[in-house]
Amino acid sequence: MKSILVTGGCGFIGSNFIRLQRQLYPDQTVHNVDKLTYAGNPENLADLEGDDRYQFHQLDICDRVAILDLLTSTKPAAILNFAAESHVDRSIIDSGPFVQTNIVGTQVLLDAAREVGISRFVQVSTDEVYGSLGAEGYFTEETPLAPNSPYSASKAAADLLVRSYVHTFDFPAVITRCSNNYGPYQFPEKLIPLFISNAMEDKPLPVYGTGENVRDWIHVLDHCRGIDAALRQGEIGEVYNFGGHHELTNLEMTHILIELLEKSRELITFVKDRPGHDLRYAIDCTKAEQQLSWSPEISFEQGIRDTIAWYQSHTDWVNRIKTGEYLKYIEKQYAGRMKK
Ligand code: NAD
Ligand code: DAU
Repeated sequence: MKSILVTGGCGFIGSNFIRLQRQLYPDQTVHNVDKLTYAGNPENLADLEGDDRYQFHQLDICDRVAILDLLTSTKPAAILNFAAESHVDRSIIDSGPFVQTNIVGTQVLLDAAREVGISRFVQVSTDEVYGSLGAEGYFTEETPLAPNSPYSASKAAADLLVRSYVHTFDFPAVITRCSNNYGPYQFPEKLIPLFISNAMEDKPLPVYGTGENVRDWIHVLDHCRGIDAALRQGEIGEVYNFGGHHELTNLEMTHILIELLEKSRELITFVKDRPGHDLRYAIDCTKAEQQLSWSPEISFEQGIRDTIAWYQSHTDWVNRIKTGEYLKYIEKQYAGRMKK
């Protein structure tokens, strides 16, 4: 592919994906469309400044005219839609931006992509569209959609729009659904970077409820390799699940972080639970393993050590985020939840 267009490339996964693309395909141009919301940070790709095969476009994916103009002038072979409001807790405070970007934004991209005759569209979705598991079982691509939060409902709506475009217009899309990512450049409102940065400052680690909820953790680069495989080898109309084969309760994860950071378990503070909190996510990624020859390669033990080391050596990056809007959000999110 001569060029691809990535949306949401200044966020956590998008920036890791773009860096990987530049490494894997040096002759390919990458266009990055990002609105730069609170979660979008151009610093995440500062190392690509001066790279003439990387181009940043500050745009809202909901802006039909601008998106169509850009697609017409740049003619990418493929679009990968990472752009989203991505934080469940924020969707509980205000679902408006989630409906706008995750649903309307996807529809705008789909229509513009159809109009220019795009060859491939990858919708980057999430395992949360499947809802919650009990103690047993795994999500497969056949699991019915049953989203429980405004965030996951908006992602499921987008997936259904993509599905309908494949069915109605022979639109060349694939959908990927991944479990919880960790790694460098994750915004410190999510569990792992929040707890690492709080622990480094000896601040409380707010565990929701009893900490028994289970997540299946995957290193962001393994997810990015999966998306690349879906882009290049995926079959049109198919869904591919990605997971890390590494389930942990939130309390187990918290204990691991505390131990690796050599801090005290006294930092753990149990707080009021997230409303509607999904109990367990766990992914069956046999289909991706068999059809895309993909499997996660980074062991959790190595990946989490590297991630902690990255946050320890990027305190300036974290501190530049931990100002204004971020502090207001944290105050609003946690003040009323503290049980003690
Ligand atoms: P993120 O919040 O770190 O980044 C989102 C990016 O999208 C930001 O750069 C933001 O500025 C941009 N954006 C938001 N609204 C936009 C708009 N209207 N127009 C253009 N850009 C806009 O998110 P992330 O964790 O990197 O997630 C990326 C994608 O992967 C999302 O679609 C998410 O649903 C999906 N996903 C995330 C995970 C995870 O564990 N983080 C797992 C599975 C799937
Ligand atoms: O499963 C994929 C999803 O993973 C993605 O689609 C989302 O974009 C991404 O944000 C993530 O969603 P989660 O809600 O699982 O991630 P988060 O890091 O917010 O929370 C992980 C778990 O930790 C969850 O059970 C809630 C809990 N938690 C989270 C925070 C921020 C706490 O106990 N305390 C906290 O302060």
